[in-house]
Amino acid sequence: KSRIILDCDPGYDDAAALILAAGSPDIEILAVTTVAGNQTIEKVTRNARRVMALAGLTDVPLAKGATRPLINPPVVCPEIHGETGLDGTTLASEGEEVAVDSRHAAQLIVDIVMREPEGTVTLVPTGPLTNIALAVRLEPKIVERVKTVVLMGGGCRIGNVGPFAEFNIENDPEAAAIVFEEKWRKLVMVGLDLTYQARATPDVRASFKAINTPAAQFLYEVLEAFGEKYRKNRGFDAPPLHDPCAVAYVIDPTVVEADPAPIHVELAGAHTRGMTVTDLRRPAPEGTTTHAALRLDAPRFWAMLRDAAARLG
Ligand code: BDR
Ligand code: CA
Repeated sequence: KSRIILDCDPGYDDAAALILAAGSPDIEILAVTTVAGNQTIEKVTRNARRVMALAGLTDVPLAKGATRPLINPPVVCPEIHGETGLDGTTLASEGEEVAVDSRHAAQLIVDIVMREPEGTVTLVPTGPLTNIALAVRLEPKIVERVKTVVLMGGGCRIGNVGPFAEFNIENDPEAAAIVFEEKWRKLVMVGLDLTYQARATPDVRASFKAINTPAAQFLYEVLEAFGEKYRKNRGFDAPPLHDPCAVAYVIDPTVVEADPAPIHVELAGAHTRGMTVTDLRRPAPEGTTTHAALRLDAPRFWAMLRDAAARLG
C-alpha cells in the first residue's frame, strides 16, 4: 500500500482525485490538506470536507493551509471551477462535512512525515505548491524522509493559463521553484502533456452514470459540470481530468509512465514565468531524480476511477 498525503484545492478534478485515492485498495490516505488555488481557502476546504464525508474519509485528518501564494497576489479560477469550486454538483450547496484539524496544513505535513518511518510517505500535491514549500522551510528534514513527491502541475511542451505556463505552477511559481529545487528521493511531475490524455468523453461520462453509488453519481455530476466549463471557456469538447492522474501514478506506474528529466521552474521570463522547463533533448544524466509523466493508458485510468467509485458505495 502507498501511504499518501493529498494536498489539494477542490475543484472538480481534485474532488475526483480524492475519490480515486479513497476508493483504491492500494492507497492509504494519511491526511488531506488544502491550499488556496481553484477557489479561496475557505471554499476549497469546505469542498474537501464534503467530498471526504462522501468518500467515507471520516477518520482521516484534514488541515487547512495557505490562504495565498508566497509572492504572487491571490488568483482563483471561477471560469473553470465556478464560484463555489464545485458549481453544478450537489455538494456545492449541501453535504455532510468532516472535522478540520486545528493545525496548519504545513505543520500537519511536517508532523506526519517526521512521525512515520523514513521513506514511507508519498506527497501528492494537486494544487499550487504553497503548503509544500512552507512545510519544507518549516522542517527541511522532510525532504530526505519523503518517499516520492507526485504532483499535478506544469508541462513539458504546453501550458493552459499561458502558452507555456500551467495553473498550479503559475499561481505560485516561487513555491514551485522551492519544491522542484529540493533534493527529494524522487519527484514526478504529472503535467499537462499527460493529463490532456485523460479526456472525459461522453462515453466516459456515461460510464459513471451507469454505476449506482453516491460516489459514482457525484463523479458523473463533476464530469458534466467540468465538461461544460471547458467547452465554454477553453473550447475543449471533452475536459481533461488532471488531478486523479497523479493518484493513478501512485497506484500503478504502468498506467501513468514517467521518464527522468531535469526540470526547473522559470521565475524571471517576460513571457514564460511559471513554465516548467524540462530537458528532454537526450537521456537524463545519471542520478536525475525529477521525472516527467508522458504516457497515459487512458482506458485503464478510467477503469481505475470507476472501480474506486463503485467500491466506495
Ligand atoms: C490544474 O489546475 C486546476 O484548475 C486543476 O484542479 C488542476 O490541478 C490543471 O492545470
Ligand atoms: Ca487542483
